[in-house]
Order: sequence, then C-alpha cells, then structure tokens
Amino acid sequence: MKKTIIITGGAGFIGSHLIRRMVNQYPDYLIINIDALTYAGNLENLKDIENLPNYHFRKVDITNWQQIKDVFIEFNPDSIIHLAAESHVDRSIENPMAFVMTNVVGTVNLLNAAVQQLKTKPDFLFYHVSTDEVFGSLDDGGYFHEKTPYDPKSPYSASKASSDHFVRAYGNTYQLPFIISNCSNNYGPYQFPEKLIPLMIYRILKNESLPVYGKGENIRDWLWVEDHAAAIDLIFHSPKSLGQTFTIGGKNEWKNIDIVYLLCDSMDQKLNRPQGSSRQLITFVKDRAGHDLRYAIDPTHLENTIGWKPSLTFEEGLNKTIDWYLQNQEWVNRVTSGEYQKYFEKQYQGRV
Ligand code: NAD
Ligand code: DAU
Repeated sequence: MKKTIIITGGAGFIGSHLIRRMVNQYPDYLIINIDALTYAGNLENLKDIENLPNYHFRKVDITNWQQIKDVFIEFNPDSIIHLAAESHVDRSIENPMAFVMTNVVGTVNLLNAAVQQLKTKPDFLFYHVSTDEVFGSLDDGGYFHEKTPYDPKSPYSASKASSDHFVRAYGNTYQLPFIISNCSNNYGPYQFPEKLIPLMIYRILKNESLPVYGKGENIRDWLWVEDHAAAIDLIFHSPKSLGQTFTIGGKNEWKNIDIVYLLCDSMDQKLNRPQGSSRQLITFVKDRAGHDLRYAIDPTHLENTIGWKPSLTFEEGLNKTIDWYLQNQEWVNRVTSGEYQKYFEKQYQGRV
C-alpha cells in the first residue's frame, strides 16, 4: 500500500462521504476508519464500501488513549484526517462537557499519538477538519477568511477553536506537519436529522410542525457535502497545503426561513400535496441561546491555491438531498429511533 491514512469520525455525515471518496479514488491507499459509533455514527452509511480490501473499521473512542495507541501500533499510519467530533450546537448548549472531552481532549490524544509517530515517520501529517463557527458571527457585511480572528460564541465552537489552537501549537512546538480547514454548513445524504435541512425534510414528510428558531432570519452558507470531501482530498494531496489554513465554502448564503420555504414547496410538489400546504407547518419557536447571526466564507485562497470549485448549484444539491431522504426513509427511521425521539421532544418542548 502506498499510504496508510487514519480517518476519524468516518461513520458520521461528512466522514462517510470522505471515506467513500478516498477508498474509491485511491485503491493503493489503506484507509482506516476509527469511530466510537455515538448516536451520530452509523456504519450503514458505508455499506457500499465496507468489504473493499483497502478499507478497515476499528471502534475507537478518541478520548481513550489506550485505544488510540493500539490502533496506531496496529496500522503504523502515515497521516491522519481528523473529523470525529460532537458536532451539534444545540447539544453543546445542553451538555458542553461532552464537547470538551471529544473535541478537545480527543484531539489532543490524537496529536500526542501523531507526535510519537514522527519518531519513525518524520513526514507524518495531521489534517484537522474544523468549522467556520470558530470565527464567531458576522453582521450583514464581510466574510470569514483565513486571517479572520477567532471569536467562538457557543460551547461547540469554543471546543473546535480550542482544538484548532492545539493543532497549531503542536505544529509550532513539536514541528508536527499539519493542515487545518474551516468549512461552512454542509448538507446532503446521511446527515443526522437533528440538523436544519434533514430535520425539516423528515418533519415535512411526517406532516409535523417545523420549528424555526427566532424569526428564521439567521444566515448560513451551505455547501454540498461531496464538495467538502473533494476539497479535503485536494488540500490533503497538494504540496502547497502544509502548515496552511483553508476556509471552505460555496458562496451560497441563505436565510433559514427561505430554505424552509424552498423545502416545503419542493416537497409539496414531490409528494403531490397542494402547493402551500407544508408551509402551514412552520412554527416560530424560542431562539437558540447565543444564536450566531450569519456565517459566510470567502474561499478565494482555496480556489487560487488548490483550484477547487463547488460542483453543484444549491437547487441541484437540495433536490438530490430531498430525493435521497425520500428514498431512504428506513435509514431515517433507524437513526432516529430510541434516544433521539426523547432528545427531540425535550428540545422542542423547551422552545414552544
Ligand atoms: P457527525 O456528528 O455527523 O459525525 C461525527 C462522527 O464522530 C460520528 O460518526 C461519531 O460517532 C464520531 N465520534 C463522536 N465522538 C467520538 C469519539 N469520542 N471518538 C470517536 N468518534 C467519535 O459530524 P459531521 O457533521 O460529519 O462533522 C464532521 C466534522 O466536520 C466535525 O469535526 C465538525 O466539527 C466538522 N464540520 C462539520 C460541518 C457540518 O456542517 N456538519 C461543517 C464544518 C465542519
Ligand atoms: O457552520 C458550520 C457548522 O454548521 C458545523 O460546524 C456544525 O457542526 C453544524 O451543525 C452546523 O451548525 P449550525 O448550528 O449552523 O447548523 P444547524 O443545522 O443546527 O442549524 C442551522 C440553522 O438553522 C441555525 O441558524 C439554527 C437554525 N435551526 C436549526 C434547527 C435544528 C432552526 O431554525 N430550527 C431547527 O430545528
């Protein structure tokens, strides 16, 4: 095998798209998926590639040093692409410590393993996948870019900002080769239906109320998940990336309420419901505490250095996403059964 790469969080939303891409594009790489399989991790996301010879899964909790050490000894990797995280802002408001443990302690555990790996593999690369939320919140003007100062405002973004700082500190202190990318909101198949787009699709389908926080005027910059996976692949492979940061986004800003309208109207059409009927499900609920107003990315550095561009328009991506959820209702039912129902009811009751 030409390269052995550990990818963390590969059973989650973005991780599963990245693993599928890497396993298929690079048959001479050995791809090791390590994941604790929390509520957000689902091996079913990788059914189509699980038997390929260049893919292995190991159930590893990154807060557990011994488990990390064992997997590094077993596979002796050349690099790591780190995505495992607690990723949902609302959950971080309820239970910040889980975010400190996985996103901060877990990342530092992996960094320590990477530093040990440098003794025999001085080119070992640590690629850290992070979020635009570390930069805080924008007013109506301006964009996040690589030089934007950190200003995290939720427990989730504070934990991700902390992990970014640790990665740079290990680069400076131990000469650990690293790359960091900070991406905007992703959407597409296999996203856990606690996030805005899949949650709304799932509830429109079931004819249930659609909880829009505040007035629905907050703005997010949406990117098709496979375009994020493509960006990570290109950045990872570019000799120009080492020690660099890249902000990733598709120049695709939307107010939340306008996305909910788009989803309602498109699903009315697909489900043969009278136009306008799903919009009646919209319910404005209590706002998220400390809700960031706007995120928007300037991807010029990525475009100029790496030559990346998004492959789909939002209309195409949203259409593919809705179709995927309609065709995969069993997946949705399985991942939302059990604990999730209790979590959602609690979230929702707290807001109405
Ligand atoms: P996700 O919640 O869908 O998946 C996270 C994965 O990490 C799951 O498979 C889960 O089982 C695993 N995991 C959680 N805790 C773990 C632990 N202690 N040990 C091992 N595995 C553990 O998340 P996602 O949306 O795919 O996000 C992946 C990464 O990308 C995260 O680092 C997130 O901060 C970042 N990111 C996400 C977005 C987005 O819009 N979703 C945007 C930018 C950056
Ligand atoms: O910007 C990147 C980040 O995007 C990632 O780092 C996070 O992991 C990811 O979860 C996402 O964070 P957001 O908080 O922006 O995503 P979420 O889907 O939770 O919410 C999107 C917007 O929709 C936000 O303004 C809150 C609003 N919202 C969300 C939910 C779940 C609602 O109005 N109603 C809802 O029920």
